[in-house]
Amino acid sequence: MDQALAGASRIAVAPQSTGFGAEITGLDLSQQLSPATLAEVKSAWAAHSVVAFPDQPLSLEALEAFTLQIGPFGIDPFIKPMAGHPNVLELRREPDEKAKNFGAGWHSDWSFQKEPPAATLLRSEVTPPVGGDTLFADCARAYEALSDGMKALLAPLKAVHSATRAYGTQGVFAKETEARTMEIVVSAEADKSLTHPLVRTHPVTGRKALFVSPTYTVGIEGLTFQESHAILGFLYTHMTQEQFIYRHKWRQGMLLMWDNRCTAHFADGGYDGHLRVMHRTTVAGDVPV
Ligand code: SIN
Repeated sequence: MDQALAGASRIAVAPQSTGFGAEITGLDLSQQLSPATLAEVKSAWAAHSVVAFPDQPLSLEALEAFTLQIGPFGIDPFIKPMAGHPNVLELRREPDEKAKNFGAGWHSDWSFQKEPPAATLLRSEVTPPVGGDTLFADCARAYEALSDGMKALLAPLKAVHSATRAYGTQGVFAKETEARTMEIVVSAEADKSLTHPLVRTHPVTGRKALFVSPTYTVGIEGLTFQESHAILGFLYTHMTQEQFIYRHKWRQGMLLMWDNRCTAHFADGGYDGHLRVMHRTTVAGDVPV
């Protein structure tokens, strides 16, 4: 190792002005990172939750290879992956497509899984000239801003998660009438549900975060529909306040990596008439505690 570099930072991390999210430069992600550089990337990701790497002209193979440096692939259900790339999803919307843009509801990726993905990596292949931003909510800061009374109320609660509203037999995609480029696989599997702690603790930072979303949380264990609805409704309004949001504006060839354990996200539309193409992988996570 070059002694002159020992202890020196290899990457430049510029936090977003919102205090949540950061841009990382000084890296070529098409190359295998050294253990020290990878550790810096992971530490910046833990600190900022959503990290953007601009100007990364990655092939699908390079995207897969970088994903595997972060951790093993997660399992991506209900969407047909790219041919020859079982762990890459193409989020593609054609200029004339009328179906609602994919991801247009607050969620944390695949939170209905027993072990939801720790990370999602999304790379912009074609960005529209207008719209198409991705919004992120800082669910750790949102949790920390709650009163001690509300934190105590939420502490023992378990939220019920399911893919039913989106991918279930009676879900949004099952009822869709407009043609969609992405191949969605509606399934009775999606109608299953499981519970996770409503407040989860991040395995790396130790910070607590709200772990609920209107897309995949269908109730709170042991509470009536009305009771769950009231508490969840309050939490959704709370965590999506402007002060907890980072709006990510894409540039072509940008890779974004977010932490599903402490954030929720929403894909904004506003680009009808323009092509948008993104490539997405996930990294496996743990059982939320
Ligand atoms: C998603 O993964 O939910 C989609 C995000 C995006 O396309 O901006």
